[in-house]
Amino acid sequence: MKPILISGRANPVLALHISQVLSLKLGQCKIDSFPDGEIHVEILEDLLGCDVYLIQPTSPPVAENLLELLLLSDAARRSGAAHITGVIPYLGYARQDRRSAQGEPVGGRVAANILSIGLDRIISVDLHKPTLEGFFSVPVEHLSAIELIAETLKKSLPDNPVLVAPDLGAAKLANTYADILDIPVAYIYKVRESGDKVSIRNIVGDVSGYSPILVDDMISTAGTMIRAMDALIAQKCRPEIILVATHGLFVGDGPGRISSFPVSKIIVTDSILQNKDQLPLPIHVVGLKTLLANAIRRLNV
Ligand code: R5P
Repeated sequence: MKPILISGRANPVLALHISQVLSLKLGQCKIDSFPDGEIHVEILEDLLGCDVYLIQPTSPPVAENLLELLLLSDAARRSGAAHITGVIPYLGYARQDRRSAQGEPVGGRVAANILSIGLDRIISVDLHKPTLEGFFSVPVEHLSAIELIAETLKKSLPDNPVLVAPDLGAAKLANTYADILDIPVAYIYKVRESGDKVSIRNIVGDVSGYSPILVDDMISTAGTMIRAMDALIAQKCRPEIILVATHGLFVGDGPGRISSFPVSKIIVTDSILQNKDQLPLPIHVVGLKTLLANAIRRLNV
């Protein structure tokens, strides 16, 4: 079936790169916002009988990008698309995968429910937890950027490196990187006190005299990485720290706070549109275009 790629406004650069790998032109589409803030979408393509791929990470502004994706899927459905896949390299609300207090919703489940209504399939990358797949009632193609990021790391490993999980949730991820790179690993016991406040209880493993490579699935406010760096420096690590995450959200004053630490490199992917000029940081962006294009090729019905 003929594949058509359509991009939302969240990451048109990645969408263009994917289309170039597939030698396809991006489908024409008009998206703007009405004066009252409502999003208006118009797909200017004949989609009758097509296999449509809507490329849109649900990155900040999360609610807006999520709704834009749902409007695109409704427009595609009403235009006769035979099959609609959401290419969502970063899935917002994924951290709300359980209730931590009475009276809270399971936000990840709510997001999965509404996406499962509008889409026939999801392609995503390094979900906050692999079990999130079970929240969707449509198939999820869960890809990983770990191999790609590890390849980048391999090219310029610092002296005496140690992989560090900034919290226990990242322990498995750190082990995976450690296995690929064949370097030791340490774990930090972090406690989240609120949405933007975390504290460190303990470090398991040797970090003194080592160059830490902190790995996580995402950097949002950077609170987790900053607390981890404080703890590593207190344990006399080498003043050459690398931060690694698949998804670089860099919200609030996170980037500014990172720049006061001895960070030699930050490796993220382009799951979220990065504007390197606006970030006062040594960012290296790993491209996901081939990973995602290959998935589209494989799944094209
Ligand atoms: C938490 O479970 C995640 O894996 C990340 O550690 C966290 O979401 C990063 O957020 P922030 O940068 O705001 O600390």
